[in-house]
Amino acid sequence: MKIKGKKVVLGITGSIAAYKGVEVLRELQKRGAEVKVAITEAGKEFIGKLTLEALTGQPVYDRVIPESGQEIRHTSLARWGDLLLIAPATANTIAKISCGIADTPVSEVALCFGKGIIAPAMNDRMYENPITQENLEKLKRLGWEVVEPGSGYLACGDTGKGRLAEVKDIVEAAEYWFYPKLLKGKKVVITAGATREYIDPVRFISNPSSGKMGYALAKVAAGMGAEVVLISGKTCLEPPYRVRRIEVETVEEMKEAALKEFESANVYISAAAIGDYTPVERSSQKIKKGEGELVIRLKRTPDVLKLIGQKKREGQVVVGFAAETENLLENAKKKLEKKNLDLIVANSVKEGVFGSSQTRVFIVGKSGEVLETSGSKEEVAEEILKKVAEVLKGAESPR
Ligand SMILES: Cc1cc2nc3c(=O)[nH]c(=O)nc-3n(C[C@H](O)[C@H](O)[C@H](O)COP(=O)(O)O)c2cc1C
Repeated sequence: MKIKGKKVVLGITGSIAAYKGVEVLRELQKRGAEVKVAITEAGKEFIGKLTLEALTGQPVYDRVIPESGQEIRHTSLARWGDLLLIAPATANTIAKISCGIADTPVSEVALCFGKGIIAPAMNDRMYENPITQENLEKLKRLGWEVVEPGSGYLACGDTGKGRLAEVKDIVEAAEYWFYPKLLKGKKVVITAGATREYIDPVRFISNPSSGKMGYALAKVAAGMGAEVVLISGKTCLEPPYRVRRIEVETVEEMKEAALKEFESANVYISAAAIGDYTPVERSSQKIKKGEGELVIRLKRTPDVLKLIGQKKREGQVVVGFAAETENLLENAKKKLEKKNLDLIVANSVKEGVFGSSQTRVFIVGKSGEVLETSGSKEEVAEEILKKVAEVLKGAESPR
């Protein structure tokens, strides 16, 4: 995980969602970050300083003017931290930061950092107020990342936009902070997971793909600044932060979505395990079990990646995956040529491709160069996407 070993200063302010700041803290720690906390006076009305000190094992920065003999902490915190994350951020604190007012521990540390991540939480009228909107726009222009609040039932009883974003999204935004923005301004389409071909309304042919590799690619591509569309078969995974997911079931649905999204894409990565066969006939009723054998005749499904390769225009980059049981590199190279790909990622099915969080792959380029890489699926995804960014640069630069 990209945030492992990073030093994060977590700012907590006087919102009813302050208790979720504690959840953010725990999740950052779980992912390997070291965390110190700054909190406003109003924030301390909502959660206890002792809780934060016990969880971090560190003193909490809660006074702008230190008591006699205490360390002056706002500048040392900014020097120590790799990232300032304010969650939840009140309308008041956002306004102060955007004006450079340094009269609370959080706004003062923010002035020292210069930029960071803000997760606003407030009543919908406070959020929609043009003053708050202008303040947020100004901060975005200055390099701050804003994790948009969600809509729904608010603590004050109103319904609208202003609820603190999901903890998972806030923490992923923090992870994204540390990726090089190699894909900024690019649209990346990624397919993931397994397809289902129905035999009857309750039975289907599928495969054990977990979708983890495709989801890891989507997350890292979004971290690298891309607009990401994830076309996904059924999985139990949550879409990563800032990724638009299109859910599909069958190969036909996958094909339709892929061709449509590829039109305006810069990069297409086929990480889905797309079924090669579908029943010749799909029964509209549940097939009753009988005594004897049941024969199901199958026909080929459309080859989605080949169709994408045929549609590829100059400047677009297409990446395939090859899961093989034998002659790994040889078969991968053949597939790269046959399907008009720019890169192919070969992995051996023998080495536990399906379901595992770790993987080992060979990234094969058009001129036959091979890069071997292994690690977590996110680490491998980063290597693949760095290579994609390189190929993209080459494809775009004038010859
Ligand atoms: C019960 C309660 C809940 C509040 N929730 C929020 C909130 O979610 N967002 C917000 O901007 N202000 C909220 N406020 C108002 C802030 O606490 C107030 O504006 C305060 O000055 C914020 O100070 P700070 O930004 O220094 O933490 C709430 C106040 C109360 C009494």
